[in-house]
Amino acid sequence: ELGQLKPTIVDKIELAGGIVEFVVRAPMVAKAAQAGQFVRVLPWDKGELIPLTLADWDVEAGTIDLVVQGMGTSSLEINRMAIGDAFSGIAGPLGRASELHRYEGNQTVVFTAGGVGLPPVYPIMRAHLRLGNHVTLISGFRAKDFLFWTGEQERVGKLQAEFGDQLEVIYTTNDGSFGVKGFVSGPLEEMLKANQQGKGRTIAEVIAIGPPLMMRAISDLTKPYGVKTVASLNSIMVDATGMCGACMVPVTIDGKMVRKHACIDGPELDAHIIDWDKFLPRFNQFKAQELDSKKKHGF
Ligand code: FES
Repeated sequence: ELGQLKPTIVDKIELAGGIVEFVVRAPMVAKAAQAGQFVRVLPWDKGELIPLTLADWDVEAGTIDLVVQGMGTSSLEINRMAIGDAFSGIAGPLGRASELHRYEGNQTVVFTAGGVGLPPVYPIMRAHLRLGNHVTLISGFRAKDFLFWTGEQERVGKLQAEFGDQLEVIYTTNDGSFGVKGFVSGPLEEMLKANQQGKGRTIAEVIAIGPPLMMRAISDLTKPYGVKTVASLNSIMVDATGMCGACMVPVTIDGKMVRKHACIDGPELDAHIIDWDKFLPRFNQFKAQELDSKKKHGF
């Protein structure tokens, strides 16, 4: 039956602050999925293609998890969809899978996740843990009310129970209502400084996923320390085919400016070679268009 092949929403969970998790039937995607990859969702016929990083998948159940922050016109409308509704189509998995290295001894892989950056971080973090790496998750939220996946029976909590000391979790909130007050950069800076004095776990690499400004801040912070830093740039894609140019990222390689595309060269790119000064205004330009579209659609 064709109807059964449609990517039907089998579960919907309101996480916090307009962020919704969908469990969607997509057995082929689930089977092929690798940490760091994304899918292209066509929510309805003639709709806008939405690239979404895989937040989780279940091969046996034949489902994938997608987390959508209701920000743009399409994402706000997607978040109104209900269990039993189906998307017009899902293509994927797309993009390059995360590069996984085994880090021995006293090293740790640090993830900095800003808000809705936590879902795309989750499968990558889990892959590192399964490989045997020590992981430090620094997960930042606006305030206590915006927390999700952090409870004992939720994803991060379950990973903590499964991996014990192999996973250290630090929460930050902008207002200090939960965890450390401030941004994810705070605890990371402390770790970098400690490393300089030969203290604490040695940071093997940093993976930053979140708003572009946050990823830039992390990149600027780690650069002088020479710590490998990866940014996941899924947030800026439009068609995700390498054609529209929306996700163009100017990077500098051997002193030369090169154009990379987050959708086909990424979504993960070396944060230290990104020309953030040129890249960030591009992002804001799309944000302005999005605001316009939101007004037109009455959001
Ligand atoms: Fe259009 Fe990458 S999203 S070229």
